[in-house]
Amino acid sequence: MKSYGHLFIDGHWVAPVRHGRFDTIDPSNEEVIASVSAATAEDIDIAVNAARKAFDEGPWPRMRGAERAAVLRRIGKGIRERLQELAEIEVRDNGKPLAEALWDLGDAAGCFEYYAGLAEKLDEHAETPIALSDDRFSSVARKEPVGVAGAIIPWNFPMLMAAWKVAPALAAGCTMVLKPSELTPLTALELAGIAANADLPPGVLNVVTGFGHDAGAPLSEHPGIDKLAFTGSVPTGSRIMQAAARDIKNVSLELGGKSPFIVFDDSDIDAAVEWIMFGIFWNQGEVCSATSRVLVQRGIHDRLLDRLKEEARRITIGNGLKNGVLLGPLVSKGQYDKVREAVERGVSEGARLVTGGGRPAHLDKGYFMEPVVFADVPADSWIWNEEIFGPVVCIRAFDEEAEAVRSANDSRFGLAAAVMSRDLARCERVARALRAGIVWINCSQPTFTEAPWGGYKQSGIGRELGEWGLNNYLETKQITRYDSDTPWGWYIK
Ligand code: NAI
Ligand code: MG
Repeated sequence: MKSYGHLFIDGHWVAPVRHGRFDTIDPSNEEVIASVSAATAEDIDIAVNAARKAFDEGPWPRMRGAERAAVLRRIGKGIRERLQELAEIEVRDNGKPLAEALWDLGDAAGCFEYYAGLAEKLDEHAETPIALSDDRFSSVARKEPVGVAGAIIPWNFPMLMAAWKVAPALAAGCTMVLKPSELTPLTALELAGIAANADLPPGVLNVVTGFGHDAGAPLSEHPGIDKLAFTGSVPTGSRIMQAAARDIKNVSLELGGKSPFIVFDDSDIDAAVEWIMFGIFWNQGEVCSATSRVLVQRGIHDRLLDRLKEEARRITIGNGLKNGVLLGPLVSKGQYDKVREAVERGVSEGARLVTGGGRPAHLDKGYFMEPVVFADVPADSWIWNEEIFGPVVCIRAFDEEAEAVRSANDSRFGLAAAVMSRDLARCERVARALRAGIVWINCSQPTFTEAPWGGYKQSGIGRELGEWGLNNYLETKQITRYDSDTPWGWYIK
């Protein structure tokens, strides 16, 4: 595989100041895929200064939106032209099935194309007149880029999470330093190359690979950063917010979840099983919005559980590059151990292990786990309340709608939720009662670039995607003019 040795700073591929390196691993066979640069605070400083200079003096924030849109469209095209190759890199780095990686990469390209459209609209809509109560004055509200953005992203959707931040930031006219996860750094480096080929000016997008403590933390603390955008775990999000608090950086956070799925007993059992499985097993359950807590109404609970057990056992597990595989390995040894421990904890907490948790017999290498179904999960157990981030679904029975809603909302998280019933009025009512940023009715997980994405409670601050995602990277300036010929007359009468 090709070389990924360098950081991308100010339009150049450069070695890190301290020459640190780390290996990135293919989780399906535990083999090293590539050696990657490990940045430290010195490299972050150089990268932020490059982004700062590109923002303060360079063309990017001063261009018309339509000109930026042309570059964004070329980036989208650059991704599409190499879709298959990039998807295969993503599979090797992350483990996910190829069909899902192709989906992610198509969505990443679509995200650049969508924000190209919003960049064009900014040319007409950047300034909105404000009706003032005093007609001696006129005023406009003007949208301007927030400045230099620092983006820190996770390993579960490497290229897509990069796109969700890079596309709106560039559309807004920001410059940026992007730090991908140390577990999946490769497609972010590819994105840097694609952006350079699309004639993005130097310093506008800098990609710095490295570890959280050595590279992520100095990025979050750097005084040259105006805005931090983070996706990942709650503890790291809290650290980033504390770093931002020191010099009042603008911050948006997309954190974890323990998202509920309420299934009423008038639901079609096969449809319910399909969406429950999609909600927790796609991407190996390593999904922030995974519907990991399922509340099933008592009337269909046992039948649904039988079907779910049967289907979960049928899932084809293996290397994501293999045809027909629907469940790849977990991303790393660390994540595998964490999920294994959670399964053991669930058993010791008294949950009923219906199926899964073992290593598939035909796979002796790689971080593979058979998909796990837990039933009768105690409401006060660790596995019912904490994010596992693996293919582990926890199920409880309920009797009444109000009880299900109460139980669904009884969480410190509030990223997503789902409800299923043939009674649409009931679905709409429950959707409005759920305390979550995203609610799916009669489905779980489908995500659209046009619609807002983000969490209530400890699942985050702010919204990505859609126009909300663009606003993340915009400041609002008031420009107010005194239009009257009459002197103000306060001091000088
Ligand atoms: P993490 O939240 O620690 O890592 C996410 C990103 O933050 C990575 O780029 C990492 O290098 C960076 N980072 C780590 N420490 C940092 C620090 N002190 N300052 C600045 N940046 C830092 O997540 P990790 O350790 O990879 O996974 C642990 C758990 O987090 C998972 O088991 C899962 O429960 C949760 N998670 C949630 C995600 C989501 O989409 N909500 C994504 C990834 C993980
Ligand atoms: Mg990897």
